[in-house]
Amino acid sequence: MTAKITIKKTFKGLLLGAAISASMTGVAQAAEVEVLHWWTSGGEAKALGTLRDSLQGQGIGWKDMPVAGGGGSSAMTVLRSRVMSGNAPTAVQMMGFDILDWGDQGVTANLNEVAKAGNWDAVVPAALKKFSKTNGQWNAAPVNVHSTNWVWGNKAVMDKVGIEIPANWDDFVSAMQKVKAAGLIPLAHGGQAWQDATIFDGVLMATGGIDFYRKALIDLDEQALTSKTMQQVFDRMRVLRGLVDDNFSGRDWNLASAMVMNEKAAFQMMGDWAKGEFLNAGKVPGKDFVCFRTPGTQGTVTFNADQFTMFKVDDDRHEAQMKMAAAILSPEFQIAFNTVKGSVPARTDISDEAFDACGKKAMADLKEAGANNTLVGSMAHGHASPAAVKNAFYDVITAHFNGDMSSQEAVKQLAASVKNAI
Ligand code: BGC
Repeated sequence: MTAKITIKKTFKGLLLGAAISASMTGVAQAAEVEVLHWWTSGGEAKALGTLRDSLQGQGIGWKDMPVAGGGGSSAMTVLRSRVMSGNAPTAVQMMGFDILDWGDQGVTANLNEVAKAGNWDAVVPAALKKFSKTNGQWNAAPVNVHSTNWVWGNKAVMDKVGIEIPANWDDFVSAMQKVKAAGLIPLAHGGQAWQDATIFDGVLMATGGIDFYRKALIDLDEQALTSKTMQQVFDRMRVLRGLVDDNFSGRDWNLASAMVMNEKAAFQMMGDWAKGEFLNAGKVPGKDFVCFRTPGTQGTVTFNADQFTMFKVDDDRHEAQMKMAAAILSPEFQIAFNTVKGSVPARTDISDEAFDACGKKAMADLKEAGANNTLVGSMAHGHASPAAVKNAFYDVITAHFNGDMSSQEAVKQLAASVKNAI
């Protein structure tokens, strides 16, 4: 029997052990990794700290290169200029199609040896592997699996207003209207293109279902893009626009999470990195906050996975880079990181024992969606189409959300700008 992997010793214990043996053997921090990422919120930084500590325990130094901005667009811009000037970082947080793009450029490091030693082919889910590898070469080490079709609710606010977890889209909207009538903010949101798009993932799935999601966001089928269903998706986005507060524009996602935590708002529609913020603030799932799938999307998962793409580096950084790749896929790290980050492991053989109720649900949902063929990549987070198409979606979704564009006009512009980007 292959038992699922659980934590035998605490991760902290492992790190301490490694740190002590490194200092006893006098290993100097000769090598270092330079890590480009967009994990700048409290919960994200805490999760990333588990990786930094693990590497430091092995005598590997950490040069941090944070570039704020969910979805990673700004980080990707910085990356391009670094690679163009011949000075690529060691490891770069990256998602989906961006990894494939870089894999094609011939600038990424070959992780096959580490992957073979760690048996990655057997333990990394196929949905992730398809992005980590180009022509049989592993370019990236998968860190986690997140998904975007989640809602985070404040339990006290829900109780005060007298609302339950909504079973479908209409119930969700009625619940939010009740919150509004009670003088509170129904939906905490940050008006940034990637956040508008994150909401759009869930709204589209709730409105059109899994087949429509695939046709519109993955196949980019023109009929689907210009359909009545797509108009309805924009109609629903307009309804949501009426349920956010007046100061939503430009707000960072973690500040929107804080509004839910502080009982200013009832809900946030956001990927499960939001849970990392709740946990970081000492909030308890089921008691202080609830997690539920975007009403109407139950049984489906719109996933995104962070991976560290490794770039070709000089010999002096190569060994540290390979150690970093190996550390990322270790079961201990996968548990330590993902229980803090709000995501779930990028390996299929990890027990859910160490995870909280939302994490257990996320793991079960992922498994079920994988088995039922209802697991699809998030458009908003680079797992449905290459960056140019993703940006075409971003542009129209955000222009519609922030202006007074009609749904008919939005559909027309969407089909045109996607066509242009293909
Ligand atoms: C990443 C998450 C991150 C979030 C907000 C997403 O694109 O996958 O890891 O927490 O952006 O920064």
